[in-house]
Amino acid sequence: MMGAADRGVRLDCGHCVLRPWREGDEPSLVRHGNNYGVWRSLRDRFPRPYTHADAEWWVAFAGRQDPQTQFAIEVDGEAADGIGLELRGDIERRSAEIGYWLGEAFWGRGVITAAVRALTEYGFEAFDLTRIFAVPLANNTASIRVVEKCGYVREGTMRRSAIKEGVVLDQVLYAVTDRDLARTPSVS
Ligand SMILES: CC(C)(COP(=O)(O)OP(=O)(O)OC[C@H]1O[C@@H](n2cnc3c(N)ncnc32)[C@H](O)[C@@H]1OP(=O)(O)O)[C@@H](O)C(=O)NCCC(=O)NCCS
Repeated sequence: MMGAADRGVRLDCGHCVLRPWREGDEPSLVRHGNNYGVWRSLRDRFPRPYTHADAEWWVAFAGRQDPQTQFAIEVDGEAADGIGLELRGDIERRSAEIGYWLGEAFWGRGVITAAVRALTEYGFEAFDLTRIFAVPLANNTASIRVVEKCGYVREGTMRRSAIKEGVVLDQVLYAVTDRDLARTPSVS
């Protein structure tokens, strides 16, 4: 496997390939990203509507990352969409938040479960992390199921911590640590 500082990391997940974002991904990014069902479960920084200009900005931003922490999820030869790690700083510098979304056309095929497993393993190895966490909205049953299937442990409810479409919501904190992986090598 390539090191964290290498460019062009590709991870084969079986159901999909995680690879760098590249020019030419913009049309599929708009096609899958401009979707209410996707946006409603994400932070408001995810654009709505999702325009070609948004896609151009994202591909340029993600493409110049060093180290590469954001990946396109390629399914059936197209970018079907994204997954990434946000590395934290200061005393949390060995932690990262995992975030992901997938075009609705590809839901229910196990794609994200495979992608989260692959990126979790890669994240621990490449960035010497002790902890990877996720913060799904409490009503996001599919995402909660995904992280549970990938070995993330529910640590608590962040009560009334988010507001989406004017509605105050709970978020749920899930995390997996390097020690969990040592105990359960089959996070896969
Ligand atoms: C959440 C999301 C990433 C799931 O992607 P996916 O590829 O369909 O996920 P998978 O197929 O790998 O697994 C989904 C699991 O959730 C289950 N699930 C899906 N919808 C569900 C629902 N409404 N209630 C209960 N379980 C549900 C599926 O049955 C599956 O579990 P199983 O394998 O035990 O049957 C996708 O729906 C998405 O992009 N949503 C919008 C963005 C988002 O929520 N991002 C995450 C923010 S934290």
